[in-house]
Amino acid sequence: MAADSAAAERAFDARIAAGETIEPKDWMPERYRKQLIRMMSQHAHSEIVGMLPEGNWITRAPTLQRKVGLLAKVQDEAGHGLYIYCGTETLGVDRTELVDQLLSGKAKYASIFNYPTLSWADIGTIGWFVDGAAIVNQTMLAKASYGPYARAMVRICKEENFHKRQGFEIIATLAAGTPEQRRMAQDAVNRWWWPSLMMFGPNDKDSPNSAELTKWGVKRKGNDELRQRFVNLTVAHAKAIDLVLPDPDLRYNAETGNWDFGTIDWAEFDRVIHGEGPLNRERLAARNKAHDEGAWVRAAASAYAAKHAPESASRAA
Ligand code: 3HC
Repeated sequence: MAADSAAAERAFDARIAAGETIEPKDWMPERYRKQLIRMMSQHAHSEIVGMLPEGNWITRAPTLQRKVGLLAKVQDEAGHGLYIYCGTETLGVDRTELVDQLLSGKAKYASIFNYPTLSWADIGTIGWFVDGAAIVNQTMLAKASYGPYARAMVRICKEENFHKRQGFEIIATLAAGTPEQRRMAQDAVNRWWWPSLMMFGPNDKDSPNSAELTKWGVKRKGNDELRQRFVNLTVAHAKAIDLVLPDPDLRYNAETGNWDFGTIDWAEFDRVIHGEGPLNRERLAARNKAHDEGAWVRAAASAYAAKHAPESASRAA
């Protein structure tokens, strides 16, 4: 039996090395399955919790057009969450279990969503920085070895690209506006810059999961390389609209072709991912409230499915 499983693992490694995609019914090491469930469910939770800071501004968007755009973006994020939960279920885990982990505070989700959205400029900055960072990370994940996750990323990145453009346009408009609007834009950039860099996770040397995920072709690039790519891209955007990224150590390194940047406050990162960020408690409370208030919708959907499922099954047959 042990010899069988060693042979299966060798065959699996060979498939990964050949760049093949792993599909739900394929044999996979238990640890690969567990790592994917961990990472994909955290990602799905992030999309869902990520609706809260922006949803907070739907009623306060400055024009009807801005309101429609923001509403669509927040709905997109809900869709991403559901899509990734579906992908996670292909690994044999039940969504209810994953949602329970989020609601009980046991599961992690992206640190960035524990910061407050204080002004309309924050909404632009989130699109520009947060969706921008997500695109850098998820374009890499679109080449991940697990088929359902990689395919989800292709679709999600297309929508995130739109979100990023929408956010940048909001900030560019404010940056070209009145002195007060410019001040608001710069203030939002000051507050969101460092938490956005934390989105990529700890430095590679301190990342307990990276080696395994890289070996199995889930991560194709390390946390540090992706963070650097995001910095390089964003410096140019900030210059284009004459806003300043709040880092006195940011300077171009002609030798490496990268923008060197200052030290991230990893103590702050640790606090936020362990439930002690500015709004962790409020975010969890809001998710629990929404979940409780949606109980009747789930009950109605289940009743409808129970009534109509045999009918649609016989139609399909
Ligand atoms: N926020 C919260 N937790 C984080 C984190 C962050 N920014 N970065 C790392 N962590 C956690 C990890 O989950 C891990 O915790 P665990 O071992 O208890 O599960 C621990 O810190 C150590 O980090 P590692 O680098 O070892 O973890 P990973 O190898 O999994 O890398 C990651 C972290 C880069 C975030 C990776 O998991 C990843 O690429 N995930 C998929 C993308 C994702 O989740 N994105 C969420 C962004 S938000 C979004 O897309 C919404 C859109 O609207 C913008």
